[in-house]
Amino acid sequence: MSSDESVVDRISSFISVNKRGIVIGAAAAAVAVGGVAYYVASSRASGAAADEESLREGKKKDKKKKKHKKSTRDKDGPILEERKPRATEESDDDPPLTEEQIQALDTSERKTFAASLKQKGNDAYQDRKFILAAQYYTRAIAVSPLPEPVFYSNRAACYVSMEPPQHEMVVADCDEALKLDSRYVKALNRRATALEALERYEDALRDYTAATILGKFQNDAAGRSVERVLEKLSKKKAAEILASRERRLPSHTFVSAYFSAFRPRPLPSLPENPSTGDNTLILALEALGALDYAHSFSLVNEAIEQGISWELGSAEALNLRGTFNFLVGDTNGAKADFEESVRLVPSLTQSWVKIASVHMEQGDADKTFESFDEATKHNASDPDIYYHRGQVLFILNEFDKAAENYTKSTELDNTFVFSHIQLAVAQYKAGDVPKSMATFRRTLKAFPERSEPQNYYGELLLDQQRFQDAVEKFDRAIELERLKKPTNVLPLVNKGLALFQWKQDMEAAERCCNEALRTDPECEAAVATLAQLSLQQGKIDVAVRMFERHTELARNEPELVNALTYQYASYAQLKFIEHYPDLAGQLRQMARAMA
Ligand SMILES: *[C@@H]1O[C@H](CO)[C@@H](O)[C@H](O)[C@H]1NC(C)=O
Ligand SMILES: *[C@@H]1O[C@H](CO)[C@@H](O)[C@H](O)[C@H]1NC(C)=O
Repeated sequence: MSSDESVVDRISSFISVNKRGIVIGAAAAAVAVGGVAYYVASSRASGAAADEESLREGKKKDKKKKKHKKSTRDKDGPILEERKPRATEESDDDPPLTEEQIQALDTSERKTFAASLKQKGNDAYQDRKFILAAQYYTRAIAVSPLPEPVFYSNRAACYVSMEPPQHEMVVADCDEALKLDSRYVKALNRRATALEALERYEDALRDYTAATILGKFQNDAAGRSVERVLEKLSKKKAAEILASRERRLPSHTFVSAYFSAFRPRPLPSLPENPSTGDNTLILALEALGALDYAHSFSLVNEAIEQGISWELGSAEALNLRGTFNFLVGDTNGAKADFEESVRLVPSLTQSWVKIASVHMEQGDADKTFESFDEATKHNASDPDIYYHRGQVLFILNEFDKAAENYTKSTELDNTFVFSHIQLAVAQYKAGDVPKSMATFRRTLKAFPERSEPQNYYGELLLDQQRFQDAVEKFDRAIELERLKKPTNVLPLVNKGLALFQWKQDMEAAERCCNEALRTDPECEAAVATLAQLSLQQGKIDVAVRMFERHTELARNEPELVNALTYQYASYAQLKFIEHYPDLAGQLRQMARAMA
């Protein structure tokens, strides 16, 4: 739990608030602008619109079949709840015409004949005689003078209903139907369902998204399908990526935020005759002090391989290696290192605190608090314990208890800036705004050279829509960070966000994020914000690039799933624009309206 992660929930809440809008709202608005009218007009023109209507209406106009009106409707046609034998028997049907007989008919005769075959198919379908129904549609296709999308789509409905369902054939028939009428929403939905069953999630998502945008969007099922498939797809891809990708450290900003959440400790003193491994460990700790993380990581691995000659040294080395393992996402490896570390030196409270972090990451709150208790048993006056317990309580929304723990931490050591900041934020979250503001003002005074209090104070001001004050704080934080190396670019991203919320100034917001990325190309907050801003302007191609980048930067499974969700949602919209270029303008327009 770095201080960055829990304080800066602004970005993530910005994203989650907009998530539904991105996946679905965009589509809904596009349709509201005029997509519906266009779809209806085009499908009527192609002669297909009325047809499935009559199929699912249970042939109202046909008096003989009134008894079937009980069949309820759903989006894909009749739900065949009851089986009722029908008066008309299929046996009285003529045998199929030969190719020659078909050729002998004129166009209008063929049309009439095809229509009657389709009607028979519809009747057979109503009677749950799916194989027979499919045969009628096949004959209708052969006889029809012009290819009719509805014949294919209805046959696809038969394939869906067969036991077992013939998903590949559903896809093939819907392909045909959609070639003839790309706005045939029922065929899109049908194909999407089959593709989902075939676990071709990316294709299913493309179709559900198109159906959502083209359809009236009155039916929530389409939106839910988009979300459901997005989730399946993102989880599947996340698992694949995690299985194949090389473990690496997250961005420099992130790593230094993590390390700075622990108070610096003096280097352990070497034993009298230090081994090679002992000396390498000191080098690893020195590299850490110089913020050279990758080097420190390889040195500590080397030190442990070479062998460390004294227990405290070994415990420190395992603590350090465990921390790097934790940061590269190897949670189990990290836990093993920390546990070995406290087995060697039980009073190394930092390792207990880190064991607590691991339990928290694994979602085990009970064990998290047990580890903190263990830490206090060994040293009740270690301020790190209370700070990190505060972080966990903060994440669990227990702001009062969190505030108590932060306070205790500052009482034990008031030089650690994050305890003060988090205390102020916890007070704010607990609803005590005046107290929180007072804590911030005190902290600003006590740490005039630190950018962090400025930045996080700015966030709370932004939350209160005190835009001008917020931007002032961010500017001050940016100024202070410019003097440092490496620079933390978070205040810059926050300034962009503030300008966007304040003045809807997209360009300024983008400029800030781009500048942040020039300084720190791995700044996740900048990438995520830029992606969202692009999406809201309908710059879907830019958004896609940013979401891809965001996926690359994601460190663990939840982050990866989240990033992939956006990535795939925007891919699907990009594909929609490719397939329906005439609707692209509307999609953009509504995206802007949302912003
Ligand atoms: C407990 O932690 C504090 C702060 O890190 C330290 O100064 C003190 O020496 C520790 N006490 C013991 C017994 O290790
Ligand atoms: C800190 O949090 C714990 C909950 O885990 C709570 O029992 C305790 O009272 C809080 N305050 C201090 C000062 O430890």
